[in-house]
Amino acid sequence: MPAGMRVGVLTGGGDCPGLNAVLRAVTRKGISVHGHEILGFRSGWLGPVEGLTMPLSLDTVEEILDRGGTILGSSRTNPYKVDDGVARLKATLAEHRVDALVAIGGEDTLGVAEQLTHDGVPVVGVPKTIDNDLDATDYTFGFDTAVHIATEAIDRLRTTAESHHRALVVEVMGRHAGWIALHSGLAGGANVILVPEQPFSVEKVCEWVERRFERQYAPIIVVAEGAIPEGGKELLVTGERDAFGHVRLGGVGTWLADEIAKRTGKESRAVVLGHTQRGGTPTAYDRVLATRFGLHAVDAVAEGDFGKMVALRGTDIVRVPLSAATAKLKTVPLGRYAEAEVLFG
Ligand code: F6P
Repeated sequence: MPAGMRVGVLTGGGDCPGLNAVLRAVTRKGISVHGHEILGFRSGWLGPVEGLTMPLSLDTVEEILDRGGTILGSSRTNPYKVDDGVARLKATLAEHRVDALVAIGGEDTLGVAEQLTHDGVPVVGVPKTIDNDLDATDYTFGFDTAVHIATEAIDRLRTTAESHHRALVVEVMGRHAGWIALHSGLAGGANVILVPEQPFSVEKVCEWVERRFERQYAPIIVVAEGAIPEGGKELLVTGERDAFGHVRLGGVGTWLADEIAKRTGKESRAVVLGHTQRGGTPTAYDRVLATRFGLHAVDAVAEGDFGKMVALRGTDIVRVPLSAATAKLKTVPLGRYAEAEVLFG
């Protein structure tokens, strides 16, 4: 590949702490080492479809390393679900003489990246999601920050729960994968952790809650938004689907707190952490991982190694086919859940 390419970059899907660190690394190494010009596209895939751009220079990426969110903005736009979306996207790339794209996103954004690769658009993917549910990488950035935020919340909720002798149910994000619940629950010493991978028995949860009260402690129950009671189904905020077919989950925490109160006679409260888990400054771990992903992604572009995603394997950054990135979700193995279960109650 010739030096001096024009490289487009975008951030898609739910935002996550560390996106700006990737943008900074792509821009700095792209310009100073590879002699590229970097063109940001705003609002995920909507940017190249609608021609929404933001040039990225050494100046624009100053002082963004520690900033949460994404200076480019994000969206859940799927160009394959928009009229003439792919043709419009290709026309924008041609108009701006963009030679290649770096797409930073989760399974949906990277799924589009993979389809576009088959449709002749040169793309390199960078994995992000607080959910840590991409199978082809050991970790995604954003996850560590989300776990820290949830753990701090659990620590704080414990002291107020104990003052009032209440059960506190903490609902965390995680539609199909319970990684945030598992890690924050373990780190925060939760008395029960409920994940989407393992339907839960409300009777059993109430037994654990009562056992905890008997020892004069207030129980903390961490529940992933996608956790399902045995014989029940996911609780939804709305059944409406986005462009990638996702419904909005939520409500299981409040439902469970009511069930606990009804069945045990103990006072219960629910706290939904929601988007606080995605906001604010990334942890040092996430800044480092995001930076390394950015540096390696721009190398892949310079080498013309398209249709790939950068991934973490152990401590190394490797490249895997985009198809592997989106082939299946990385869910919590039941053996890992069983490890934690020993500490319940
Ligand atoms: O995929 C990341 C995620 O934060 C999920 O954990 C959560 O279910 C979803 O996004 C929330 O999406 P939105 O930002 O559209 O409310």
